[in-house]
Amino acid sequence: MKDQTLFPLYNKRGLPETPQQVSQKPGDGTQQTHPRRVYIETYGCQMNVSDSELMAGILTQSGHQTVMHIDDADVVLVNTCAIRENAETKVINRLQHLNHRKRRQPELIIGVCGCMAQHLRDRLLEAAPYVDLVMGPDAYRNLPIALDSLIRDEEAHISLTDRDPFLGLRLDKTEDYADIAPIRKDGIRAWLTIQRGCDKMCTFCIVPFVRGRERSLPLKLLVEDVEKLVDQGFKEVVLLGQTVNSYRDNGSDFGDLLFAVGEVNGLERVRFTSPHPADATDSMINAMASCPTVCKHLHLPLQSGSTTVLERMRRTYTAEEYRTLVAKLRERIPNIALSTDIIVGFCGETDEEFEQTYQMMANIRYDSAFMFKYSEREGTLAHKALPDDVPETVKGERLKQIIELQEQISADINTAAIGGTVAVLVEGESRRETEKYHGKTDGFKTAVFPKMDSKIGDVVNVRVDSTTAHTLIGQIINGHA
Ligand code: 5AD
Repeated sequence: MKDQTLFPLYNKRGLPETPQQVSQKPGDGTQQTHPRRVYIETYGCQMNVSDSELMAGILTQSGHQTVMHIDDADVVLVNTCAIRENAETKVINRLQHLNHRKRRQPELIIGVCGCMAQHLRDRLLEAAPYVDLVMGPDAYRNLPIALDSLIRDEEAHISLTDRDPFLGLRLDKTEDYADIAPIRKDGIRAWLTIQRGCDKMCTFCIVPFVRGRERSLPLKLLVEDVEKLVDQGFKEVVLLGQTVNSYRDNGSDFGDLLFAVGEVNGLERVRFTSPHPADATDSMINAMASCPTVCKHLHLPLQSGSTTVLERMRRTYTAEEYRTLVAKLRERIPNIALSTDIIVGFCGETDEEFEQTYQMMANIRYDSAFMFKYSEREGTLAHKALPDDVPETVKGERLKQIIELQEQISADINTAAIGGTVAVLVEGESRRETEKYHGKTDGFKTAVFPKMDSKIGDVVNVRVDSTTAHTLIGQIINGHA
């Protein structure tokens, strides 16, 4: 294992060092002589879910099979997240479990893919020496080659301790997987990656270091993808990107893409996540305001309501600019649902600075929010330059305060919806009450209602009769919306 760091893309298996030299591309007709059953387990964000669908596509094209149950697998790929420390701790614990499994099933190949693999690189092997494969988000094209090489070792009866793990850790700013057909579970909502990587360099964030530079997929191809998804029966498409609204393809911007996708025949709804406030252009707002299929819901990460904290975070906007943007959005798109991400306890955050965040949340009144304690990530700009000096207890107390505030606001907004009617895209049977369906409103709230004569995939009008903390409960009225 000693030479791994010298060969960032491949280890000493003698494989070529640059991706261009790899001739065995998935789908090039190469027949898989050692098909394996692969179980992919996904942690983290929607982008990872989408990447797992890509991995399934790559593996299937090269003759492997993906399976739904780990007991049926001879390869387990764990697609990981690195955004906060607890995301990585969770995976390390999971890997220990997988190691127990490997003791019972020694030929089991364990792979760690995704952001944590890219972040920890070969150090991951110190924590989990039984891992066979470590692969970052730009290297999935090499999965079949990696499996082949690991399988060859196994068949040559090289003992487990003498086998070299396979490393695929080169970030490649040209890799967009445009030619790979992802394998998705059938359903109502499909996720479509329109852009990979991030150029923003927020000081707290590991993403640019583990996902590389920003690159967008061609608009024409994406529209064709959406047409295919509609043909397959999907009713809603969620466009995905790390800073989704910085999308660019030649002269087209994100607003152009929203319009183009929104007009695809048969598509009921388009959403997107996650935009960056600095890229919330008039073009994007116009598309949201005027294209009926584009949902009137915006997840707009604020991170902090204090301009000085935002500066330390290098968010590139002030609290005032963000407030102005929200006012503009609400003017152009009345009833727009807003959600956000907040980090408390970022480096040097004072009581006053935290209070500004609290006040801003109280004033804006988001429909919902994801709230986090700052978690220092090795390699980020904050890790290099700013001390993580807010005590853990203070972070915890601040988090508790904003969670309480947000719970109250979300509950009040839901209560105000009682008596009104919402259009709901029917997604499936309610888990608790089989005579009911659940679905999402345009603003991404969950609604539960008796099925009556509706079907999964319909858009129905639901009158809201009551609410729980996060759910609207009601009845279908007037048949379809
Ligand atoms: N610590 C805590 N939260 C973080 N996020 C990103 N990096 C960190 C970090 N180091 C949060 C941000 C981002 C969301 C996806 O995760 O709020 O918007």
